[in-house]
Amino acid sequence: MTTYYDEVQELKQRYPDRRSAVLPALRLAQAKHGHLSTDALRECAEAIGTTPAYCEAVASFYDMFHLAPVGRHLVEVCTNISCALVGARQVLEAFEQELDVTAGETTEDGAVTLRPIECLGGCGWATIVAVDHGYRTHVQPDDVPGIVQELRDGD
Ligand code: FES
Repeated sequence: MTTYYDEVQELKQRYPDRRSAVLPALRLAQAKHGHLSTDALRECAEAIGTTPAYCEAVASFYDMFHLAPVGRHLVEVCTNISCALVGARQVLEAFEQELDVTAGETTEDGAVTLRPIECLGGCGWATIVAVDHGYRTHVQPDDVPGIVQELRDGD
């Protein structure tokens, strides 16, 4: 059985500087641990041959890495300018109300994490909401109960 350490050693071979493998190594660590806990960051650092602080610094720059636990589902509402202009704030508030959380939090049952996010690259289809990494386009506040129900039905 291939271990995380072995997989990272293989990744390192693809880069002239071993520390450049940190992004795929973080992705693997997150897939293994669910989020980048202290243990996950330490394991990543050991496999890369760097420090946990370096791994954390890189991870903290990217929205796709989670330094805290997240729910079984992830709902990310783009609140950047194009989406903001067509009501992203109201969409985010509708999710907060429907899920009974504040943006950045996870529902009490651990089902859904809601968070605002920077531009998802779908500005022409605003408001964009990423639901478990799948994009929903032109989302309006009225669409929110249906999206949440879908997630609850899928659990
Ligand atoms: S501003 Fe929302 S996708 Fe670009």
